[in-house]
Amino acid sequence: MSALTESVSLEKRGDIALVIVDNPPVNALSHHVRQGILDGINAAVADDDVKAIVLTCRGRTFIAGADISEFGKPPQGPGLDVVQAAMENSSKPVITGIHGTSLGGGFEVAMCAHYRVSVPTAQFGFPEVKLGLLPGAGGTQRLPRVTGAAKALEMVAKGDPISAQEALDLGLIDDIVDDHEAGAVAFAERAVAEAMPLKRLRDLRDKVEADRADPGLFDDFRASIARKTRGFKAPEYNVQCIEAAVNLDDFDAGIAKERELFQELMRGTQSAAQRYYFFAERQAAKVPDVPRDTPQLDINSCGVLGAGTMGGGIAMNFANVGIPVTIVERDQASLDRGMSVIRGNYERSAARGSMPAEEVEKRLSLITPSLDRGDFAERDIVIEAVFEDLDLKKEVFEDLDRICKPDALLASNTSALDVNAIAAATTRPESVIGMHFFSPANVMKLLEVVRGDKTSDQIIATTMSLSKQINKIPVLVGVCHGFVGNRMLFMRGIEANKIILEGATPAQVDKVIYDFGFPMGPFAMSDLAGLDIGWKEETSTSSTVRELLCESGRRGQKNGRGYYTYDPQTRASTPDPEVEQMIRDFGAKQGIEQREVSDQEVLERCLLPMVNEGAKILDEGIAIRASDIDVVWINGYGWPVYTGGPMFWADTLGIDVVVDKINAYHQDLGGDHWAPADLWAKLVADGSPLHTAASG
Ligand code: 3HC
Ligand code: NAI
Repeated sequence: MSALTESVSLEKRGDIALVIVDNPPVNALSHHVRQGILDGINAAVADDDVKAIVLTCRGRTFIAGADISEFGKPPQGPGLDVVQAAMENSSKPVITGIHGTSLGGGFEVAMCAHYRVSVPTAQFGFPEVKLGLLPGAGGTQRLPRVTGAAKALEMVAKGDPISAQEALDLGLIDDIVDDHEAGAVAFAERAVAEAMPLKRLRDLRDKVEADRADPGLFDDFRASIARKTRGFKAPEYNVQCIEAAVNLDDFDAGIAKERELFQELMRGTQSAAQRYYFFAERQAAKVPDVPRDTPQLDINSCGVLGAGTMGGGIAMNFANVGIPVTIVERDQASLDRGMSVIRGNYERSAARGSMPAEEVEKRLSLITPSLDRGDFAERDIVIEAVFEDLDLKKEVFEDLDRICKPDALLASNTSALDVNAIAAATTRPESVIGMHFFSPANVMKLLEVVRGDKTSDQIIATTMSLSKQINKIPVLVGVCHGFVGNRMLFMRGIEANKIILEGATPAQVDKVIYDFGFPMGPFAMSDLAGLDIGWKEETSTSSTVRELLCESGRRGQKNGRGYYTYDPQTRASTPDPEVEQMIRDFGAKQGIEQREVSDQEVLERCLLPMVNEGAKILDEGIAIRASDIDVVWINGYGWPVYTGGPMFWADTLGIDVVVDKINAYHQDLGGDHWAPADLWAKLVADGSPLHTAASG
């Protein structure tokens, strides 16, 4: 075996040459990989003893794509197109042997082999759209020539992978083998023995010609993804590339179109934001002061206290991955109600086809309802999800301390309370941690893991791994009111509530926030959550718009009347002139002058206090890194990923601009939430961006 570059080697087995890539962790197409493959193919073609060439990878996967960390940097080594041309135009058959994930540029390389074989567990796909990109190395032109446009559109514009079996059925691979390397070598020997033709996917025409007869195909597909891809640029560009593959006769003209659109996306802010997010999410899982090899607890059973909105969803997360759960309530009626909501959720998922019907009973059988907290005695983890009341939570934790085994992990799902105070109610504060799930807890990906002052490394490490096991994206945060997400949300709430007294309507504010890319604005969100959360008639003093709405019987979506009125059948919302008048009267009573408020002002006043608060959160060390804050907001609150999250977005505006605006609003409007964070002075002095800032 001879090394061609630091990551690629060439080996001969009889008359078969193997070009072997070994570039951990995922065999990305770094410049030395491209160079190595090119050299390997050329050497094998030049060697008269070689009859066929196998390209394969060591480690956990086939090539998982271009090296994203090279994007935006000066190019090095040969372009991928040169490597692909060497493979596709080779005079000897090239076979790829695939295991793990063949993604993006990795799949595009494989498509330039004459034949492809894979192990049954391999996955194939084009996730570029999730990075704000499109397959830029011929994927959009070769794929529809094999699968037809309909499947190609699905694959490139949605970005989800397919299985080896589906790839075989579609003709994307030629065989499924037990071992990717031995199987590819055996296929190569057959190709030589049977003098198989050198198949080039670029030469196929039947499928795209047939698709040309159905021009409506593309607009139907566009309509089908419109809602989910609102605001994103890349899905539409992916569609245009497949359209080009179908409509342009010439393969190279299609490639030119693909390159032009790829480069435009690559230069744009959306892809920069989405690529940043890719690394941010992976970074968030790392805790600098907790060593990677910290011993962890084995979590094989779970207890959940409270079967309300959150407890039920939390229990489902564990049952979904096969961990048995005991769920305890204070009375039978609440327990029955909670269990029936869980059953309803599972049945709806099965009816929608998102899980097999037989899974409903299987998962339910993993959830044991109980009225006895004593049943938590042997549970490895217990998560409390009772009402948001500190005294109640302290009482609960005192009790859990008595009941649970000494090495149990004790977690609270509080959304804002002091985890240190909760931990102090036990004799083992080192075992206590916050696990702040987001509603609906069985759906939302974010988990804020709240570390108390005394939480042990073992409990932190275990909770971070467990969060991944239950398919959440964990972000470690410190204790403060509202942690990272809700603390910043409160700031947006302050300004949104003020600005409607100055002349903006709830509908205007919501539209500005929706158009920015959020799923909904703050008032629609309040209506959805219920206006009466935390409201009590006896103590209500007509001192806020929300209190006024509750006092007049408006509870939000649940009774069809809140900031908006809701159609009982469709749940469609309409702005309500009565509410708008109520708000104007309330503002006038407080002597607030009404004026026309611009959309730009609405946007700045809603989002900049959040950015400022994020900077304070870093000042205080509540979040480890600025990018963690972005991960929280993208996954917990629907901040549009194509702007990168609040911290990255601030950088795209320019830190100087952001700081000037915060100072100006502070002067005009006052309020602690506008008082500039200390971090600004440092960033401005260093000329450094916000999104790479770390606490401390
Ligand atoms: N480039 C550079 N680094 C990459 C990478 C890539 N394409 N893919 C993964 N990595 C890094 C991750 O950042 C991580 O680094 P870390 O350990 O320092 O945090 C490490 O590899 C392991 O990644 P994961 O934690 O994600 O490992 P998993 O086993 O959970 O997942 C995976 C593996 C499914 C391959 C996942 O990493 C993934 O989805 N990667 C991205 C795949 C992708 O988007 N490919 C397309 C790239 S764009 C392209 O190819 C353009 C082309 O069309 C021209
Ligand atoms: P909920 O009112 O829907 O459910 C609370 C449940 O706890 C009720 O079913 C109640 O009967 C039960 N309960 C109360 N006292 C109990 C006791 N002593 N023993 C056993 N069960 C008891 O409330 P929700 O929304 O589920 O909130 C629970 C916790 O989750 C709160 O701390 C809340 O702040 C937090 N949270 C809520 C979110 C939301 O969007 N609803 C989001 C994230 C966190």
